[in-house]
Amino acid sequence: MRALGIDIGGSGIKGAPVDTETGILVADRLRISTPDPSTPEAVAATVARITEHFGGNSALGCAFPAIVQRGVVRSAANVDTSWIGVDGAALLSRATGRPVTLLNDADAAGMAEVTFGAGRDHTGVVMILTFGTGIGSAIFTGGHLLPNTELGHLEIRGMDAEHRASDRVRKSESLDWEDWAERVNEYLAMLEALFSPDLFIVGGGVSKDHARFLHLFETKARIVPATLRNEAGIVGAALATAPARRD
Ligand code: BGC
Repeated sequence: MRALGIDIGGSGIKGAPVDTETGILVADRLRISTPDPSTPEAVAATVARITEHFGGNSALGCAFPAIVQRGVVRSAANVDTSWIGVDGAALLSRATGRPVTLLNDADAAGMAEVTFGAGRDHTGVVMILTFGTGIGSAIFTGGHLLPNTELGHLEIRGMDAEHRASDRVRKSESLDWEDWAERVNEYLAMLEALFSPDLFIVGGGVSKDHARFLHLFETKARIVPATLRNEAGIVGAALATAPARRD
């Protein structure tokens, strides 16, 4: 089956058609900068442009950087706050003329990694962390997702973890890999104390550079880079359109 996956991020909105049996993108992805302000109407218009670009009438899955419960957006850390309370699935469906499945972006990335990537066939507790504009998290046990975990907002030294250790902060504070890893290590130690995962998967924009930093991370659990890299959100969004995967 083919489905269109769109990953709505704090800085870019990226989409591509995906073969949901293999997790492979069947066309080059299209990226458009996230509108500023990232209001529901502006983001919906961008999602409609991407949908029109690829054509066809396959199902549409969208990953969104916030809490999403049954299509309704419940938080807005890295998008316009006017999203809170909006039925995002219904809005995007009106804008594109297709049924839309909407889910948290890290949950989407996690689904892709657990189905096709670094967490494939893993039966234990798997924690996916995405380091980008914010820090996203997804927890799987026996392959089942606990949605909307939002662990990027755990408090460290009086601050949201993502305000100390996201990839955006690494860049904006010009941290070198060692300094950034020190902050991430403090965060990983907290996650291990709370959840004792068997496997960490590091995804998000920064994962393409894993050779430069992964060896600096100190965890009891195995820690590996995301296999699908930054495309996991697109693939997971497409996967989420399968009826069996709806919540
Ligand atoms: C949001 C999460 C999201 C993460 C990564 C956080 O600020 O609260 O919902 O998964 O950023 O985009």
